Amino acid sequence: MLKKIIISSEFEIYNSINELNASDKKLLKQAIKAAERAYAPYSNFYVGAAVLLANGTIVTGNNQENAAYPSGLCAERVAIFHAASQFPKTKIIAIAISAKSMHKTLKSALSPCGACRQAMSEYESKFNSPIKLIMGGSKKEIYVSRSVANLLPLAFTNKSL
Ligand code: THU
Repeated sequence: MLKKIIISSEFEIYNSINELNASDKKLLKQAIKAAERAYAPYSNFYVGAAVLLANGTIVTGNNQENAAYPSGLCAERVAIFHAASQFPKTKIIAIAISAKSMHKTLKSALSPCGACRQAMSEYESKFNSPIKLIMGGSKKEIYVSRSVANLLPLAFTNKSL
């Protein structure tokens, strides 16, 4: 072994949505609302995402499932692809996500899947600017990450090509 490295991730944890700053609170509220419109008849796991753009626009999305399971898409990618397709030149500032399961009360904040981390990371690289992530969903804690890179160490990006 040449050497060992430790890559650490840092999160801010809040007890309730009311502890967030006004902008994050508004964004998470939009994600919670978007989750209610999810199409999730197979998992009954309703996810919402709200993307804040540099021009102040908020674009929301939710998970869209399909009878052919892999054809569905997560809320984060529905929202971020929609935002990027409508406003290709506008920087993405933050994304809030939230989930609600019909089966149980969620014990922890929603953590985006690997594919969504990769998709979100692309826009961080594209605009060379961190995207703040506000992760809600549980009755208790809300996790805030200052960037997607913080959730995806050693990411494969445009700089890797
Ligand atoms: N899902 C999301 O939309 N976002 C996540 O971060 C995790 C999972 C969706 C995919 C699927 O429709 C359902 O939740 C169960 O995995």
